[in-house]
This record gives sequence, C-alpha cells and structure tokens, in this order.
Amino acid sequence: MSTKSRVHHRKYSLTSRRVEQLSPSGIRKFFDLLASMEGVISLGVGEPDFATPWHIREAAIYSLEKGYTMYTSNLGMPELRQELSRYLKDNHNLDYDPDSELLITVGVSEGLDLAARAIVDPRDEVILPDPCYVSYSPCVVLAGGTPIMVPTSQENDFEISAADIETRVTSKTKAILIGNPANPTGAVMPRDKLLPIADVARRHKLLVISDEIYARLVYGVEHTCFATLPEVKESTILLGGFSKAYAMTGWRIGYAAASTEVIASMTKIHQYTMMCAPIMGQVAAIEALRSGNTSVAEMVEEYNRRRLTMVKGLNDIGLSCFEPRGAFYAFPSIKSTGMTSEEFAEKLLIEEKVAVVPGSAFGQCGEGYVRCCYATSLADIEEALSRMKRFVSKHKKA
Ligand SMILES: Cc1ncc(COP(=O)(O)O)c(C=O)c1O
Repeated sequence: MSTKSRVHHRKYSLTSRRVEQLSPSGIRKFFDLLASMEGVISLGVGEPDFATPWHIREAAIYSLEKGYTMYTSNLGMPELRQELSRYLKDNHNLDYDPDSELLITVGVSEGLDLAARAIVDPRDEVILPDPCYVSYSPCVVLAGGTPIMVPTSQENDFEISAADIETRVTSKTKAILIGNPANPTGAVMPRDKLLPIADVARRHKLLVISDEIYARLVYGVEHTCFATLPEVKESTILLGGFSKAYAMTGWRIGYAAASTEVIASMTKIHQYTMMCAPIMGQVAAIEALRSGNTSVAEMVEEYNRRRLTMVKGLNDIGLSCFEPRGAFYAFPSIKSTGMTSEEFAEKLLIEEKVAVVPGSAFGQCGEGYVRCCYATSLADIEEALSRMKRFVSKHKKA
C-alpha cells in the first residue's frame, strides 16, 4: 500500500467537534452586558453575598503563615477526608472510607466532570431533568455521552418523576444525574419521590450522580441524601461542596463520595488533570466542617427571610412563583408578559437595571421563567421587586 492512500483527509479545524457542538453558557451574555452598566441590582449570579465566615478565613491565613503552600495527596488532605467521613456519618448515617471512597475535588464543577468522564463510554445516555444546572449537559457531552432530558414543570413543583425517567431508559442508559435541591428552580425532592427513582435505578442497573451542593440550604423541609435510600449507596456518586453553604465559592473545594471502584476511576482523571484541590481551600474546608455549623445556621436563617420576601413579592407582581424550599433561587413564570425569557431578562436589565437569568439558559423547559437569586440583601431584593413591578405593569399584555 502506498503511504499516500493511508492519509486521511479531514476538514481543517482548530478545535474539536465535541467542543464545537456545545453552545456557550446562556448566562454569560447577560454578565457581559451587566459589567458595562452602573446601578444594576443583580439577582443573576448564584453566589452568596456573604464573605466566608471569619474563623474559616483565619484558619487558612494561619496555614499560609505556617507555610502550607504545597501540593496535597491526589485524594485530598487525610484530615479533610476524615472530617468529611465523620460529617457524612453524623448527618446521614453513611459510612465512607476516607482512604478509598472519598475524593476532594476542585468544586462540585470538577466532581461533575470527573463523574461523567469516569462512567460514560461513547454514546452512553445519561438522563437529566429539564431545566437543570447549566453544566450537567455539557459534562455529559464532553465525556462522549448523550444527555436525555426529562421535562419537569411548575405544576409538579419541578420534581423529576420516576415514571418519566423510566420511559426514557434504553439499553444505552448509563446513569441518572439529578440536583437536589435544584438549580435553577429551588425544588427539593422529598424522600417519597426519590424512592421510586432509586427503584428505577436499581432495576435497570443505572448509576445515579446526585449533586447535593445545596443540601444544607433547605427551608422547613428535610434534605434526603440519595445514597441513604435502600440498596443504592454502591451505585450512587454523591457530590457535595463548600461553595454555597459556607459562602466559599472562591476557594474551589468540593468532594465526591462513591464506591472504591468509581473513586479510583475519578482519581485517575483528577491526578492527570488537577493533581489536587488547592491546599488553602482544603485547610479552610477542614475548619468549616469542624466549626462552621453556627455560621451556616445564621446564613440559612437570613436566606429564608429573603426567600419569603422574594416569593411573596413576585407573586404579588403577578409573576406566579412556586415555593422553592431549597438553594437560593426563585423561578417565577413570566408567561403573563408574553415575552420570551431572554427578551424579559434583556429588557428588564436595560429598562430597570435588574439582572435575572432567562430560564431558557437551563433547558427548553426553563422557557417562560427567569431565575432570581435571593442571595443578596433584603434592601436590594425590595428595590428589585419594586423595579420589576413597574416593568411588569408597563409590559402587561393588553
Ligand atoms: C447545582 C450546582 N452544582 C454545582 C455547582 C458548582 O459549584 P462549585 O463552586 O462547587 O464548583 C453549582 C454552582 O452554581 C450549582 O448550582
């Protein structure tokens, strides 16, 4: 055979087809616009307005003074994994071996990427709720898999139903990925609705990636950790983190708890791509687990006050909003205005200087809604609501 005949002619492209098929996050466009404006009240970014509690910052500062500036073990600092193992035992009665079943990640963001890449083979399908957090679907695609969306709706409190999942299971289905409490809706799935999902997963031998980053931000309801449901601990990849509950977004610390086999696979990718999570953040996370409970309780109490004001205010304006019981988002319907969620968000920003995120950024079923983050001061929430009231009356459909 001549060498010439073995040359493959491929369309010239600087970037991979896998990445080309991803659309940029629908949130970014608004933040670019917002950055160029003054006097904007942002209900956009999903980030606490609190600084990390002082005792946590202090622990990290002290560690720097002592010269803790190096790599840690790939899995994360042993002290942090031990604290985490204790936390999961005390809070959920779950046993995870700190040496083989826990991995410290660079936020839940890395945990999602690792989980997808560790379990998905090309063309495997992963079932996701629609709407859902912006990175779920891209993580599945980047892992070579196919996201299969399950619609959820305001009528059903944005809960993902086991029956709807089951009708989408095929021979290619590898996993179900859920966020509980959910971003962008604030929905909290109660135990009795999670049980049938666990049952579907068990019967069809599916893995479940359970993103529980908002586990501690619940209001008047119990959070159920998916891995506590009967006979699914081995097949569940529990993802948790410090960003939201402890106001630690910038420290970039999360964790994965799963079977030895899955953690070993995730660690292989992590060691070649990240090496380890940042040591300063890990030291801060140890302090957060040891003595952060009071700070979390104080922040939760404050978020709850803001949640009640936000949800009542939106409903009073005529933007119907189901009661979110977790995270720090309200997800009102803007259908009464006749605008698409992008039009609504863009006009509201330009005319009234209030930033919200169009629901369409989170999936097709998010169309007709906007996400309003209430992790901002009560005074700003009240001012934003009064601007939104003016906006909605101006644009009311005749
Ligand atoms: C549902 C959900 N999962 C994961 C993340 C990523 O969090 P982290 O800061 O731990 O990477 C976010 C951040 O907004 C989120 O809302």
